[in-house]
Amino acid sequence: MKLPTLSTLNVRNKRVLIRLDLNTEIIKGKAQFSARMKAHLITLKELKKKKAKTIILAHQSRPGKPDFTSLKQHAKLLKVKFVPDILGKKAVSAITSLKPGQVLLLENIRSIKDEFNQSLKNNDLINILAPLFDIYLNDAFSVSHRSQTSVTGFPQVLKSGIGRVLESELKHLQKIKVKNALFILGGAKPKENIDILKKNKNVITTGIFGQLCTIAKGHNLGAQNKFLKDKVKEFVPKLKPLVKNIQTPIDFAVRVEGNKRKEIPLEDFPSKYEIFDIGKKTQALCIKKIKQAKYIFMKGVAGYCEDLKFCQGTHAIFKAITKSKAFSLVGGGHTTDAIQKLKINKSRFGYISLSGGALDEYIAGKKLPGIEALKKK
Ligand code: 3PG
Repeated sequence: MKLPTLSTLNVRNKRVLIRLDLNTEIIKGKAQFSARMKAHLITLKELKKKKAKTIILAHQSRPGKPDFTSLKQHAKLLKVKFVPDILGKKAVSAITSLKPGQVLLLENIRSIKDEFNQSLKNNDLINILAPLFDIYLNDAFSVSHRSQTSVTGFPQVLKSGIGRVLESELKHLQKIKVKNALFILGGAKPKENIDILKKNKNVITTGIFGQLCTIAKGHNLGAQNKFLKDKVKEFVPKLKPLVKNIQTPIDFAVRVEGNKRKEIPLEDFPSKYEIFDIGKKTQALCIKKIKQAKYIFMKGVAGYCEDLKFCQGTHAIFKAITKSKAFSLVGGGHTTDAIQKLKINKSRFGYISLSGGALDEYIAGKKLPGIEALKKK
């Protein structure tokens, strides 16, 4: 089914509510300009040119997490107006007084409880915001796996379509087959990776996901077990039956006194130091597997790329992928940001997706609620 796009919808003088994914790294309190933001600017530029009145909904992290912040800095990075409100008088007045060609960002949508409310009836976001708009656009494939009001609610009550970023993701992903691929799964979000483990055996794990898989194999990582305690509790029981035949790291880089990198083989754990990267032996294993692969799916960084000395594992994997003849699909917010940060030649990848968890679910063959909701209306 073809979804309406900016080529088919008339947005001129219309109030357009658009869901973007501005979720980004916050380093020392500063929101970072991301690859996703850069991509969304293309959609925003077109909406401005077409004289739409554009109001953005987006999130940063989730309640309870340290990087759950206001979107004030994100508005500066995008060079758009900002109102620190969503449902109150300030927001309504800013929305209704917006002029054609202007763009306004509302506050972090996850600060409103009804974002997590599946009902459309007793939902203030639907009852207060929806009547103010003519059109809803989803431009965030990367959050389309979430059944949240800004993703699945609005398209059920408003005329809807997709922005240029979502359009491009769908177009490219529909062409990609990842059967018999080598899966390199890292990052800090294990939930969606689990679906891939259920269906595939040619898997190397890195990052926090790799550490959890290592723990699921029965290893004690010491300080890192403590650091990951909530995730260990939630995911290790689910991972235990799935990790037997997958490759987990055989060495790790830890951060020792003076913020220095030290590599420790798995057999020398538990360690009193927390883990920040995979070690050289694990990198060599990854490189060997990459050389043998015909198709590669990589999602999630191998280490803490905010600090370049702990981005060595990720760098080594990127370099091996760009040298290989395999078709590669790479995804994940931190992963795409690392490609940018490490100045890796993007043209050497088959396709770089801006999505992470949503991409995992798509690759695992699941239907994304955000896309399904757009089809319903
Ligand atoms: C992401 O960064 O993958 C998306 O913004 C989704 O974020 P979430 O996992 O917090 O829903």
